[in-house]
Amino acid sequence: MFTGDDSLKVLASVIPAALCLVIWKLWNMHNYNLRDRTCSLPLPPGSMGLPLIGESLNFVLMGADFYRNRLKSYGSVSKTNILGHPTILVLGAKNVRKILMGETSLVASYWPQNIRTLMGEGTVSHSEGPVHKKRRKSIGKAFNHAAMSSYLVESQDIFRYYIKRWCSQAAVLGFSECKKLSLRFACHVLIGFKVSEKEVEELIELYTVFADGLFSIPLNIPGLGFHKGMIAREKLMMKIGEFLDRRKDWDGVPDALTYMMKLSEEELTRTELKEVVMELLFTGHVTSGSAACSLLFFLGKNKEVLDHIVDELRQHNIDGDEGKITLEEIGKLKYVSNVVKEVIRIAPPVGGGFRKALKTFVLDGYQIPKGWTVAFSIREAQENSNSFPDGDKFIPDRWDALTTEREIFFPFGAGRRMCVGKELGKLMLKCFVVELAINCRWDLLNEYPVFEEMPVPRPIDGLPVVFFSIRKLGT
Ligand code: HEM
Repeated sequence: MFTGDDSLKVLASVIPAALCLVIWKLWNMHNYNLRDRTCSLPLPPGSMGLPLIGESLNFVLMGADFYRNRLKSYGSVSKTNILGHPTILVLGAKNVRKILMGETSLVASYWPQNIRTLMGEGTVSHSEGPVHKKRRKSIGKAFNHAAMSSYLVESQDIFRYYIKRWCSQAAVLGFSECKKLSLRFACHVLIGFKVSEKEVEELIELYTVFADGLFSIPLNIPGLGFHKGMIAREKLMMKIGEFLDRRKDWDGVPDALTYMMKLSEEELTRTELKEVVMELLFTGHVTSGSAACSLLFFLGKNKEVLDHIVDELRQHNIDGDEGKITLEEIGKLKYVSNVVKEVIRIAPPVGGGFRKALKTFVLDGYQIPKGWTVAFSIREAQENSNSFPDGDKFIPDRWDALTTEREIFFPFGAGRRMCVGKELGKLMLKCFVVELAINCRWDLLNEYPVFEEMPVPRPIDGLPVVFFSIRKLGT
């Protein structure tokens, strides 16, 4: 017999299920209503995930695989919801390039509020319009030909210092060493300081906590990543303030800071200037450090590529004995350039980014509604493009056959937000390859490390490496 108790039990299970269904329907209706009704084109396919949280958990936990799965399920343009924002995922070289080149006409730079708070509003990445243009122009002056030549001389000393140290140790962890090398290089070039090893380690520690804060839940509660990131930010700003004070009587080679300080007399507050320096040191060392570590890995694993580099250096009489390499000589090293391109193609330090749609526009026959977030993947575009057959394989020679790069390869972005440190980053990596090839050899202790791809590519085991010197390095 069906009793009153039984009916209550049925109701107790049916009501929550019905409620879930209603919430689910309302959520989908809400998302459907976010489309641009004045546009007759449909929204892209995709799933908006669970009510309120959307697909945020998948996005955070799956990293780069999130994009790969979406490509398989829905193609190059799909819709989702990340961190409460209706979002369009954009994949494929042609589409990604359209977004990058559409800055200010179709889209605008967009950063979640926690990242804005931690980085600060004075930074290049977060400035907009004429202010953004002026800041970029001013920093760009620090990367003219004369300035780059002078950086090259100093940078070789920095690389040799590290290579000598690595060769004197039983084994080193490639990832953390490359980060230190890159930060020291960035400090020297960008703010004109020869920082001590102790200072480098202190800065790395602060920047690591700071970076964790950028990718944590945006709650300023003691003990949580964001709060720790804010404390690291204060310490970094203090340290950079000290650097600025020490620079008052500067008479060295003009560096990025010299140009920024000139600008600051006109319109940057001291806080903004400190924020820009903090940003340049951060973006500069994190990206280049990751790429330098990937170089160690790919050259350590593909010894024939290293042999080919050595041949090219011999052809150009570059052996390290004849003093330092010049910018002109570096420019002639075609194969070295291919190797660097291949590394940042296969392991791009900046895997993608975010924008906000300024108006409704069309991509692959779908509407991209005004106000939606646009998330694009540089990594996927460079991995899956038809222009790069066997895209997951490290093949530096592939670059000989490619006639045009602009449309398919953008590890430094493109358009108005293209990386301000592009030339410096490339120069640093080429110079690192040359110094490695003429001074040492190395063995990877693990030839099959697992790489994390976000926020930057890094081997989970830190890449343990044993170095051997092949020529005597000065002190
Ligand atoms: C291998 C090294 C590097 C790679 C692969 C790289 C990559 C990128 C990419 C892809 C962007 C554009 C992001 C977007 O469109 O949202 C970017 C922007 C930026 N990069 Fe780099 N970068 C590198 C080195 C550097 C260095 C050395 C510096 C410092 C001098 C730097 C400073 C910046 C800044 C300030 C921006 C923001 C530009 C803007 O918003 O106008 N990067 N970088």
